[in-house]
Amino acid sequence: MIEMNNVSVRYPGAKHDALSDIDLTFEKGDFICILGKSGAGKSTFIRCINGLQELTQGEVKLDGKQISNMSEEQLRQVRLEMGMVFQHFNLIPRMSVIQNVLTGIFGYRSNVKNLLGLFSADELEQAKRVISEVGLSDMMDRRVERLSGGQKQRVGIARAIVQRPRILLGDEPVASLDPGTSNHIFTLLKEMHQRLGLLTIINVHDIGLAKRYATRLLALKDGKLIFDGNPEEFTESYYEETYESPDNLLT
Ligand SMILES: Nc1ncnc2c1ncn2[C@@H]1O[C@H](COP(=O)(O)OP(=O)(O)OP(=O)(O)O)[C@@H](O)[C@H]1O
Ligand SMILES: [Mg+2]
Repeated sequence: MIEMNNVSVRYPGAKHDALSDIDLTFEKGDFICILGKSGAGKSTFIRCINGLQELTQGEVKLDGKQISNMSEEQLRQVRLEMGMVFQHFNLIPRMSVIQNVLTGIFGYRSNVKNLLGLFSADELEQAKRVISEVGLSDMMDRRVERLSGGQKQRVGIARAIVQRPRILLGDEPVASLDPGTSNHIFTLLKEMHQRLGLLTIINVHDIGLAKRYATRLLALKDGKLIFDGNPEEFTESYYEETYESPDNLLT
């Protein structure tokens, strides 16, 4: 489904690659968690997949088609197939739950229609169904600014799902939430993943969550892939390697 061949990214002026020689393939059904300390390259990695990142070397392919060479229009189509969930939710605070979720459908629509805010009965039904799936049926019309963090992320997930993606990407979607809420959100992500038969790729700081939910774990260190395998194979020594700071290495 997704293929990364020899992918490297070096930001302008940087001395080292932010991502270095990544060779990976991902298939439908994989629930992937990416671990790595701050600066390891996790966000850069996610951006390579959704086509937001210019590569220094290599290629990323979706179903055999190279994302890195696509036109803006082609990229727009590709991104429609990828739902995205963010750490800070990226919702519109003054708009209601259902209005925020409907923005997930924008990708399908002409701009004029978007501006007028006209949605078909079908689209409204679809948004309502997804909102109830994330457990917020009784808050459809509430402004998002009046929700808790966990509820906001449910809206974020509903917005990603309503666009009917094949791939779900998350850049630290629970980093701003408490452990219990994080667990609920991961349960929901996993449910969506299984029911819709998605490919899910999520960056996460919490190794406990990653081990509990992932079918496959990746660990990045200084832009390099240092682990790719089953969660149970991610032993203490991999943990130490992943999170060890360069300062510790010197002492
Ligand atoms: N736009 C940018 N311009 C220059 N350097 C960047 C840019 N974005 C990231 N970097 C650098 O690339 C490296 C990887 O960054 P990235 O944001 O991918 O890490 P991360 O694993 O997501 O970190 P965090 O856990 O803090 O979010 C870091 O050294 C970072 O400073
Ligand atoms: Mg990041």
